[in-house]
Amino acid sequence: MKSNQEIVKLTDCHVAKTYGRYPIALVRGKGTAVWDASGKKYIDFVTGLAVDNLGHCPPVVVNAIRQQAGKLLHVSNLYHIEPQSQLAAELTRLSFADKFFFCNSGTEANEGAIKLARKYFDDNGQPARHEIITMNNSFHGRTMGSLSATAQKKFHAGFDPLLPGFKYVPFNNIAAVKKAVTKKTCAVLVEPVQGEGGVNLADKSYFKALRKLCNENKIPLIFDEVQTGFGRTGPLFAYERYGVKPDLITLAKALGGGMAIGAMGGTNRVMKSLVPGTHAATFGGNPLACAASLASLKVLTKKGFLQKAVSTGDYFLEQLHKLKEKFSMIREVRGAGLMLAVELDQPGAKVVTDCMQEGLLINCIQLNTLRFLPPLIITRKEIDRLIRTLAKIFTQMDQ
Ligand SMILES: Cc1ncc(COP(=O)(O)O)c(C=O)c1O
Repeated sequence: MKSNQEIVKLTDCHVAKTYGRYPIALVRGKGTAVWDASGKKYIDFVTGLAVDNLGHCPPVVVNAIRQQAGKLLHVSNLYHIEPQSQLAAELTRLSFADKFFFCNSGTEANEGAIKLARKYFDDNGQPARHEIITMNNSFHGRTMGSLSATAQKKFHAGFDPLLPGFKYVPFNNIAAVKKAVTKKTCAVLVEPVQGEGGVNLADKSYFKALRKLCNENKIPLIFDEVQTGFGRTGPLFAYERYGVKPDLITLAKALGGGMAIGAMGGTNRVMKSLVPGTHAATFGGNPLACAASLASLKVLTKKGFLQKAVSTGDYFLEQLHKLKEKFSMIREVRGAGLMLAVELDQPGAKVVTDCMQEGLLINCIQLNTLRFLPPLIITRKEIDRLIRTLAKIFTQMDQ
C-alpha cells in the first residue's frame, strides 16, 4: 500500500486543486474511527461533512451494498427500479412529503428545487414568477443555480454572471423576508440550521412566521436539509424541531449511509409540476445508492437510536459550555443535536491541525468557528477525549 506522502504527491500531480487538503490519506474506517495510510487512528468528528451519520462502514449498509452489487448496479429511469420505489415509499412514510425525485448530491437536489419552484408558477395559470428569497450566510451548493442561491460573496467570486432572480436577506429576520416578497417571488429557500455559514440557529417563531408568510402569498417554502437531515440536529428531519412543515425538502449527505445520493421531496401540490421530460438524472435513484439508503434508514429509525444521539448531543454541548467558562478565547458555543460549533476570537486552523496530531479530526468554518459533526454513535468517552484535547490546545494558545 502507498504511504501518506506518496498519495499526497499523486493527488498534487493529478487531481484538480479545488480543495485545501490536510497531508494525510484516509484509507479505512470503522464506527467512529478512521485510519490514515501510516496506520494512525483518528476519532472522526467530521464524518465526511455530515455524511457518515451511522459511523464508518456500518455493517447493515455494507451488507446491503454487497447484496445489491451482486444483483443490479444500474439501469435507466426509463424503467421502474425496485429499491428506488421502496426508498421513496419509506421517505414519504417518514416525512411530510408525498413524492420524491432522486439525484446524486445536495447541489443537484437544490437545482431541482429551484427549477420546480419556477415551473410551479408557470403551471398554475399565473404570470410567471422566478424570484427566490434566500438567507445571508446560506450554503446551497456549487453548481450555478445553487451557487446563485448561496448568499456568501466569497463563493461567487470569479463566476459572474450568476443565475438571476435571487434575493438575499438576513437569516432569522422575518421582517426582511416580508419586505423582499413581491409578485415575482416563487419560493423561499432556507436551511433549518445554517451549516457552512457557521452553524447558525434561528428561532422557532421565525420558521412559524415563514410558514405563515408563504401560506398567505401561496409561495412554496423550501427547506434545504442536505446537512441537517437524518438525525443530525436530533429528529430525523430538522423541520420537526420547529413544528413547521415545508412544501419542499432537499436531502443528500447522510441519506445514503455513505453512498452518493440526493433527493428532493414535496407535497403532491408542488411535485405535480414535474412531468415526464421536465427533469432527470442518469444516476438518480440508482439501485445501489437506494439499497444503501434503505439500509441506513432502517438503523436511523430503530427505536431509541435518535433519542440516544440527542442525549449524547446534549452532553457534548454541556461540555463545550464548560470549556467556554474556562477559556475567554471562546466567543460562543452553539448548535443542535450533534451539529455543534465553537466560535473563537481568533483563527481556528491551528486547532484543527493540533487535534489531528492528537488523533482527532475536526473542522473549521468561517475561519474562526470549529465545527463538530461526529457520527451519531459517538460515545461520551470519545467526546471527553476531544474536550480534554481542546482544553490542552487552548491552554497553550493562551500563553
Ligand atoms: C445545506 C447544504 N446544502 C447543499 C450542500 C451541497 O451539497 P453537495 O456538496 O452534496 O452538492 C451542502 C454541502 O455542504 C449543504 O451543507
